[in-house]
Amino acid sequence: MHWSYPVDINVRTERTTVDGPRKDGRVVNSIDRLGTDLSVVGIPGVERFVIDADPNTSIVIRLSPWRGNAQTVQVVVVAGPTPQSRYMDRLLNYLDNRGVLTVVTAALGPTDQRPFVEAGFTPHEHLLLLGRAIKPNDPPPRERRTRPARRQDQDAVLALDKRAFAASSAFWRFDKAALAEAGRATQTCRRRLIKDSHGHPIGHAVTGRTSTIGFLQRLAVNPSNEGQGIGSALVVDALRWLGRSGAREAWVNTQPANLRARDLYLRHGFVERDVGLAVLIRSLADMKQSPDQ
Ligand SMILES: CC(C)(COP(=O)(O)OP(=O)(O)OC[C@H]1O[C@@H](n2cnc3c(N)ncnc32)[C@H](O)[C@@H]1OP(=O)(O)O)[C@@H](O)C(=O)NCCC(=O)NCCS
Repeated sequence: MHWSYPVDINVRTERTTVDGPRKDGRVVNSIDRLGTDLSVVGIPGVERFVIDADPNTSIVIRLSPWRGNAQTVQVVVVAGPTPQSRYMDRLLNYLDNRGVLTVVTAALGPTDQRPFVEAGFTPHEHLLLLGRAIKPNDPPPRERRTRPARRQDQDAVLALDKRAFAASSAFWRFDKAALAEAGRATQTCRRRLIKDSHGHPIGHAVTGRTSTIGFLQRLAVNPSNEGQGIGSALVVDALRWLGRSGAREAWVNTQPANLRARDLYLRHGFVERDVGLAVLIRSLADMKQSPDQ
């Protein structure tokens, strides 16, 4: 399968500045020059790295600080093919010169992993990949009501998300920027939550769609509210929205050991794929700093 996943994560499904006007200087035209305009994606520290200015062949790579740590950078190819080795070397040199110590990738399928592996990346996290078809005229029956997650809910959503993923590895823990990015990684996105009787958010979901492909980007339920059908209601809401908005397939990934999430997705018609995804990592410790840095 030749695509990677957009949470935190993908790639070719992400809307990029290449899709829009390119003359406003937000995107640079050469691998040797890099745009550092923080307004590019509205998240501090996020940059676009462009290889080849021709809009038909450009590779655009998003570089973002990993969980707020500027010395660890996530590289996500947001347009064009995964760069082959000579471009990969220049990218790694650039990051090394910038003082980056560790580089992580998005969650990649086997084809997209190859150039990174050739450039010295090794597996960091394996992910299960599950998918299902969406039939627009046959939506799953509605479950518990969900509400839009608004800006004023953000702190409470982040707090519950933190509790839900407290036992997970660092890869799964979201800060404010990661949560914001999850919603920007696709053409359109839906953020929903479920509140308890006191009005406190106890579950939230971020779902994205690019073209006809839907992605369950984030799902978290407050640990003390698990087992009440909240996760299920958010999945159903996501599938119904995807069906209405033109998606024909839905994808989700999860940790192999997260049986609770896996079972939830299986109950909602997802099927586990034989080949999963992998997040790769590379230390830049072996690279020599260039003399001018
Ligand atoms: C995975 C997760 C989202 C599941 O959320 P949840 O709200 O507990 O899920 P549900 O309640 O809908 O379904 C889970 C169980 O409740 C049962 N259930 C469903 N509706 C129910 C209802 N109305 N009343 C009581 N139980 C119900 C389900 O049958 C299921 O049973 P099980 O415990 O035997 O598996 C939640 O555990 C979570 O946030 N985990 C940490 C973060 C995470 O892993 N996110 C997904 C990563 S990809």
